[in-house]
Amino acid sequence: MKYAIITGASKGLGESIAKRLLQEQIAVISVSRTENIELKNLAIEKGIEFKHVSCNLSLEKEIQEVFMEIAHCIFEKNPTEILLFNNAGVIEPIQKVGNLDQTPIIRNIKVNLIAPILITNLFLSQAPLTNTKVTVINVTSGAAIRSFEGWSVYGSSKAGLNMFTQTTAIEQADLKTKNVIIGFSPGVMDTGMQETIRSTSGDAFKELEKFKEYKEKNLLLETDTVAQRLVELVLRGNPESGRVYHIKELLES
Ligand SMILES: NC(=O)c1ccc[n+]([C@@H]2O[C@H](COP(=O)([O-])OP(=O)(O)OC[C@H]3O[C@@H](n4cnc5c(N)ncnc54)[C@H](OP(=O)(O)O)[C@@H]3O)[C@@H](O)[C@H]2O)c1
Repeated sequence: MKYAIITGASKGLGESIAKRLLQEQIAVISVSRTENIELKNLAIEKGIEFKHVSCNLSLEKEIQEVFMEIAHCIFEKNPTEILLFNNAGVIEPIQKVGNLDQTPIIRNIKVNLIAPILITNLFLSQAPLTNTKVTVINVTSGAAIRSFEGWSVYGSSKAGLNMFTQTTAIEQADLKTKNVIIGFSPGVMDTGMQETIRSTSGDAFKELEKFKEYKEKNLLLETDTVAQRLVELVLRGNPESGRVYHIKELLES
């Protein structure tokens, strides 16, 4: 049996990943600050195990407590594989360096980078004591490899996540474990994060008009489409540990 843990499953891409996995008969644990009742109802309808756990991923003490409990409960069931989707993310602060406020800077790095590091570390510390394979999917962004003026903090957090992914993969290979860790860049999707981007000022974010156009011209990707391709890769695509996949290549294949 496989278990999936998805951070940020309350909405956006995380919700679509959760729906897709429930359709694949995979038990899901959703972690975010708010609960998504539709997911709970879908799980009941499909007869699949589903649990929502409330956690603020910008609070490291809460992360430690919540994920220790989740790891304990899941490893105890001796599943064949645990799929850990580090998907939760925040875009803010959108502002030029010099005009940034301290609190959103710290929150961004905590949610986008520190939380995935803490959670991955915890699961990989427990995996050697079991027969369970751990597959980690870190949701990153094109902003990790290209600079967007106004997104210095977001881009840095995702660049850090890519390096964490690649380094962990090399270590796991060296340790000869069966664990896999990949990055996934989902493209520009129609979610709340894009609404936040469009609501900022052109002074703070240079490419604002381009992002408004994406919406007006219907160029944003649907999260269900992105989630379907990602889940296909993870379940049946034999993903290569350490690689950062981009949705474009999955849509083309
Ligand atoms: N949308 C895009 O165009 C785009 C492009 C490239 C990469 N991405 C990446 O894709 C991932 C998903 O983005 P999305 O567009 O689906 O975003 P979204 O619709 O804004 O959803 C963000 C999710 O993260 C959770 N979250 C945020 N802060 C949290 C916190 N402090 N504690 C716990 N959970 C928190 C939210 O849950 P609660 O509010 O319920 O806590 C929500 O479920 C992110 O990593 C993002 O960086 C998105």
